[in-house]
Amino acid sequence: ETYTASITAPVNIATLKYWGKRDTSLNLPTNSSISVTLDQADLKTTTSAMTSSSFTKDRLWLNGEEDLQLSQSKRLTQVLSNLRLKRKEKESKDASLTKISEWFIHIVSINNFPTAAGLASSAAGFAALVACVAKLLQLDDDMTELSKIARQGSGSACRSLFGGFVAWEMGEKADGSDSKAVEVAPLEHWPQMKACVLVACADKKDVSSTSGMQLTVNTSDLFQKRITEVVPQRFELMKESIINRDFELFADLTMKDSNSFHATCLDSYPPIFYMNDTSRKVVRLVHKINDFYGKTIVAYTFDAGPNAVLYYLEENEDKLMSFIYAMFKDLSGWEAKFSGEQLAKFI
Ligand code: DP6
Repeated sequence: ETYTASITAPVNIATLKYWGKRDTSLNLPTNSSISVTLDQADLKTTTSAMTSSSFTKDRLWLNGEEDLQLSQSKRLTQVLSNLRLKRKEKESKDASLTKISEWFIHIVSINNFPTAAGLASSAAGFAALVACVAKLLQLDDDMTELSKIARQGSGSACRSLFGGFVAWEMGEKADGSDSKAVEVAPLEHWPQMKACVLVACADKKDVSSTSGMQLTVNTSDLFQKRITEVVPQRFELMKESIINRDFELFADLTMKDSNSFHATCLDSYPPIFYMNDTSRKVVRLVHKINDFYGKTIVAYTFDAGPNAVLYYLEENEDKLMSFIYAMFKDLSGWEAKFSGEQLAKFI
């Protein structure tokens, strides 16, 4: 007997960054964060899972190759055992259910974008995995409940279980039961919002988020101010800007928070550099465009890598793209690697 399930999860890009853990095993963050997941996403992970009484161990294939390291990692075992525990509870209440909580699971996952290039692949990956295995095990938990499990795989993954505008509330309990993702607004609330990714470099990142954020927690002085004063205030303001569809406020907060996050990276010791010369050119370009129009029509944000994600309203897409294409010829290194089509990838 076998059971199967399949699911896709979109990439979410944080506009208020998660950076720092107060518990590295449960992935409990030092601050709350916010992200946007857009519907026209062509950046996503598709995951299928199968369970059978004849399987002899849990196995995982990523982009066509078996990943023995991740299969045996604490993150994956922790996530699977949490999901099995929920299934076990169901089985103990209903004797007619097959005890699939005792079977092993095979998982196949495919990204349609570069893994670990700062394009939030682990976020979509673990979110898809959790949603898929929850479906496989026929769990009835809602997305917020599942977000607590996805979080243990990769912090940012907890936000990818929802589309639209999502907050990850840091919580304060030691067991993590209040550190969860909640919807701020569905995508339909602000359908004019669009994003595009400028791929500056699709290579694997130098310093993983997990180790980078620990270095920041342990060595940066700026970081304390960020988590105690800067982010808590921004968290409330950004939620309001989304609810009120106030693009200028949303965009200004997004850019400032990206800069604040990268400043704490630079303030870590030894310093961590995620942005490169191309990233800085994009920052200057965005400010030039906004100056030209006399208001903020576009925002940038950078995760743990040099690629930029731009947010803008649909009505400004033509204005923005004409600037971007005009600038490409000056951005050395970009034209050589990618065609114009690939440079601006819509998510
Ligand atoms: C810069 O979620 O990848 O993208 O919890 O260790 O797996 P782990 O880290 P991860 O960190 C993401 C950091 C970020 C900001 C964000 O997505 O909020």
